[in-house]
Amino acid sequence: MAERTVVTTQVAILGAGPAGLMLSHLLAKSGIASTVVEIRSREEISETVRAGILEHGTVNMLVDSGVSDRVLRDGDRHDGIELRLKGESHRIDFKELVGESVWLYPQTDVFRDLAARREADGGDIRYSVTDTRLHDIEGKPKVWFTGADGVDYELRADFIAGADGSRSQCRLQIPEAHRKWYFHKYPFAWFGILAEAPRSSDELIYANSENGFALISQRTPTVQRMYFQCDPDENVAEWNDDRIWETFRSRVNGNGFTLKEGPVIDKMVLKFRSFVHTPMRHGNLFLAGDAAHTVPPTGAKGLNLAIHDVKMLFEGLDSYYSRGSTELLDSYSSRALDRVWKAQQFSYWMTSMLHTPAYADGFSRARQLGELNSVVSSRHGQAYLAEAYTGWPGAA
Ligand code: DHB
Repeated sequence: MAERTVVTTQVAILGAGPAGLMLSHLLAKSGIASTVVEIRSREEISETVRAGILEHGTVNMLVDSGVSDRVLRDGDRHDGIELRLKGESHRIDFKELVGESVWLYPQTDVFRDLAARREADGGDIRYSVTDTRLHDIEGKPKVWFTGADGVDYELRADFIAGADGSRSQCRLQIPEAHRKWYFHKYPFAWFGILAEAPRSSDELIYANSENGFALISQRTPTVQRMYFQCDPDENVAEWNDDRIWETFRSRVNGNGFTLKEGPVIDKMVLKFRSFVHTPMRHGNLFLAGDAAHTVPPTGAKGLNLAIHDVKMLFEGLDSYYSRGSTELLDSYSSRALDRVWKAQQFSYWMTSMLHTPAYADGFSRARQLGELNSVVSSRHGQAYLAEAYTGWPGAA
């Protein structure tokens, strides 16, 4: 077999999504070397439509660590959301309730900012690699891969960060006896669209209705992002614009509110699941972001959680390299999982409170309205939602 070209670094990072790039950026600022390998191309990542809400802690990390302050200029600060039930809107005023806000700034822009910063700083990011294989994660780890240049590499590192997304190859390297997986399936999915239309509302609308859930979000003054609850096996080809808008109308219009419509320029079905891999470390492999956990999209926690993992992992690696201490690396998994389970609870709660399964009986539906009412009619209920949505206090 041909010799592999050896590359040596301190931290090998699998995955150049926001988690992998943010980790590489923070490490570089502390003088710690990393190489990022990614099977997708840069174009593919930057063109994938993903969620759009950033917690204030995520925004602070982007700005304070010097990635970019574009989010403050091009993003929109949202001080609240609207919950719509029985055709009536109830505003949850984040600013007033918990003193915080979120930013509407699509994940693709977060990726573009991070990729541009790493490039400007001379970061070693290798897109479009193939045949990645991990070795010796319990000892001196190595990653084998074939570069976009066709060369076979052996990347040697002290640690591997597995930030390779929900179909993570890294987590499969952890022996079954050393891991536990938690799953939850949901009986629905989201039908997501991008439409050329003006904004219907300044803030996001989360609508619960007799006909199912809908979410009205935004992208730009002329392009809007919206979702409605659908069957997990829904076929997008069977949905023309008329049928899509009719579905939205039946879920959000009423009491003086009319959605602004326009041509649908993109449509997709987003599957739901809750998943957690524990622990988030095995030997010298650390998992971060979707590689270790997936949340259903209601409440937009996925990216924020990934950035939080990265902050914790960075602190562990930084204290190891600067002081020789393994304490924060040893506690990484349990510290990260604290927030992961809070976000799992919040995403599950928002999902089950706002969506109605097709088989829901009269009791479940009436109980659900009781639950929604207990949130919108109480300052404490509203504050619980506001605190979780904007991001719990304490780091990122
Ligand atoms: C968006 C996605 C979400 O899952 C959410 O809860 C709010 C907004 C979005 O894509 O804009």
